[in-house]
Amino acid sequence: MESISFDPRSINNLLDQLKNQTGIEFNCYRRNFLERRIKSRMIRLGLNTDKSYLDYILTNPQEIDLFLERFTINYSYFFRNIEIFNKLCEIIFACKNEKFQIPSVNYEYITDLSIFDKIRRSYAYKESGLKIWSCPCASGEEPYSLVMVLEQIKEEIGEFPNYEITASDIDKNIIKIARTGIYGAESLKETPHNYISTYFTKFDDRLGPKFLINNDIKRKVEFIIEDVTRGHNKDQKYDIIFCRYLLIYINRDFRENLLRIIENHLAPGGLLVLGKTETLLNSKLSFKLLDGKNHFYIKM
Ligand SMILES: C[S@@+](CC[C@H](N)C(=O)[O-])C[C@H]1O[C@@H](n2cnc3c(N)ncnc32)[C@H](O)[C@@H]1O
Repeated sequence: MESISFDPRSINNLLDQLKNQTGIEFNCYRRNFLERRIKSRMIRLGLNTDKSYLDYILTNPQEIDLFLERFTINYSYFFRNIEIFNKLCEIIFACKNEKFQIPSVNYEYITDLSIFDKIRRSYAYKESGLKIWSCPCASGEEPYSLVMVLEQIKEEIGEFPNYEITASDIDKNIIKIARTGIYGAESLKETPHNYISTYFTKFDDRLGPKFLINNDIKRKVEFIIEDVTRGHNKDQKYDIIFCRYLLIYINRDFRENLLRIIENHLAPGGLLVLGKTETLLNSKLSFKLLDGKNHFYIKM
């Protein structure tokens, strides 16, 4: 990779060209991330200057889709960082008791408006359901994991409120896979066995075993294609937003803008869940750290 040279001016031209063709604002992303993605395509094509790659794109329009495939890192699996899902269950169960105790949660920031109170009211008065947004959702493993967890809770206590899950991603191909709901064994490596037997149908294809997620789970998620750096397509405030493993690709200058979009769509007292390697360090927005171990924040 080192033998590939990048001239700052022509890489800007290249990014402008990619933006013209795709509508994606590449300037939001970390420069070294973009360069690595571009380099990996260039190596594949045997090109060694960014100018030659720009020329290649101009004469081979099909390259845009191939670049986008490399650019969107869709890696995901069911119950990624399973302790997050366990913690969410713990919170939901704990809210059933008047005096709840949740280890590692910072009580200082729990107010009457918080998600905790909303869950408690839901138990008591069957108030409106929880609204959850998984952004970005890749091929659907994250929102479907949430559905399975919530269905399991319903199964156990029978009185959990209704919920709606919206899931969005910029990549139309990955959303298609999410809507189809067929996964390989690798995607289920962290999935508890009882979830696999309850919520999936196993079948064999020529590449090995595959798992089709049940329609009852699929129906609970509304998938949308969108570039979240430009905003969210729904006029909706959510109680919980999962925004995991996107911020790591976004540059410092744009981070706060993206977080503001998330903040605007989170109800007061709502819960923001980031990835294990992501934090809100130095953000001036209204989030407070609720659980440092699990990267849970609450909107004040
Ligand atoms: C590593 S996956 C994370 C998926 C999931 N949240 C998880 O933790 O497993 C990152 C996803 O971000 C999506 N993405 C990248 N830029 C985006 C943007 N501007 N708007 C929406 N999704 C984006 C990619 O398409 C990719 O599917």
